[in-house]
Amino acid sequence: MGKRDTKQRNISHLGKKEVGCREEQKISYQEEAGNTKPIQTIKNSDSSCEYKIDKEVMIDVSHMSHVYTDEMGNPVHALKDVDVTIYKGEFVAIIGTNGSGKSTLAKHFNVLLTPSEGTVKVLGMDTQDPAHIWDIRQHVGMVFQNPDNQIVAAVVEEDVAFGPENLGIEPSEIRRRVDEALKAVNMSQYALHAPHLLSGGQKQRIAIAGVLAMKPDCIILDEPTAMLDPRGRKEVLDTVRRLNKEEGITVVYITHFMEEAAVADRIVVMKNGVKLQEGTPRQIFEQVDTLKQLGLDVPVAAEVASELIKRGHALPKGIITNEELGDVLCR
Ligand SMILES: Nc1ncnc2c1ncn2[C@@H]1O[C@H](COP(=O)(O)OP(=O)(O)OP(=O)(O)O)[C@@H](O)[C@H]1O
Ligand SMILES: [Mg+2]
Repeated sequence: MGKRDTKQRNISHLGKKEVGCREEQKISYQEEAGNTKPIQTIKNSDSSCEYKIDKEVMIDVSHMSHVYTDEMGNPVHALKDVDVTIYKGEFVAIIGTNGSGKSTLAKHFNVLLTPSEGTVKVLGMDTQDPAHIWDIRQHVGMVFQNPDNQIVAAVVEEDVAFGPENLGIEPSEIRRRVDEALKAVNMSQYALHAPHLLSGGQKQRIAIAGVLAMKPDCIILDEPTAMLDPRGRKEVLDTVRRLNKEEGITVVYITHFMEEAAVADRIVVMKNGVKLQEGTPRQIFEQVDTLKQLGLDVPVAAEVASELIKRGHALPKGIITNEELGDVLCR
């Protein structure tokens, strides 16, 4: 798959000091007073030109509430006055206990739901405006928990072609997109296989390829690894990370696995339909006791480090990955 728009666009309109040196891009975060404001650093290979810009907004959720009606006709306030901004190129994890509103929030991002109050805008397009639904869904693809529910064809490559076919795209372009999408998820050699014979992790990667074939800017994954074994989980997470880092695809990743959330650029914590916190993984997982009181896990490494610090060991703060813990303990 070719480079994404995020890496190729002309950014002069964003008020840059200089244009034309965008070989390397990375998002850094200002970590001040619990606030995280993504800043994109752009520099050329010999660092002779470098500038910072505020990231472009991919999804903007403002004062959004969502009320379902249950079977008895009673209102269920699933989301209450939520404000969330997802910036282009970010990898944002959403965590929270069962029923905290994660899926409801994610379904607003590609107009499977619309707000009861407040607004959701995708690339500036209001999801309440029916004229934008088609456009938004082409920009934002969704991958769900159960890979079996997302496979529609009897042959892998036909499954991946399903989306672009529905867009009325011409056959040679569909062929190209299918090949690129399968390559991007490392499943080219399975193009002619029957999806139901694949492992869970492979099926999920086919589901991701199906979304990629639509050429989205952003992929929302709602617990994509919940039904997978550890190997499948790793395959899927590695694939999603690569798409984010190498293709510049914006990722919103809902998970109950804190080790997965730990690799995100930013984490949003939901509780009872409210956005409780957001911050870098370090900022969030540093608060081991608070998260545990909320009924949430923390990465094992963060918990071990926190226990060691409590017992008087002089460990640096902010350890969240096994590698970091290993490095510190082996010093
Ligand atoms: N279709 C629906 N009709 C009525 N209530 C619903 C519906 N879908 C979700 N809810 C309720 O809305 C609230 C938020 O649900 P949601 O599925 O968004 O939570 P979640 O954080 O994704 O949970 P989980 O971790 O279990 O997937 C819950 O109280 C849930 O019971
Ligand atoms: Mg859910």
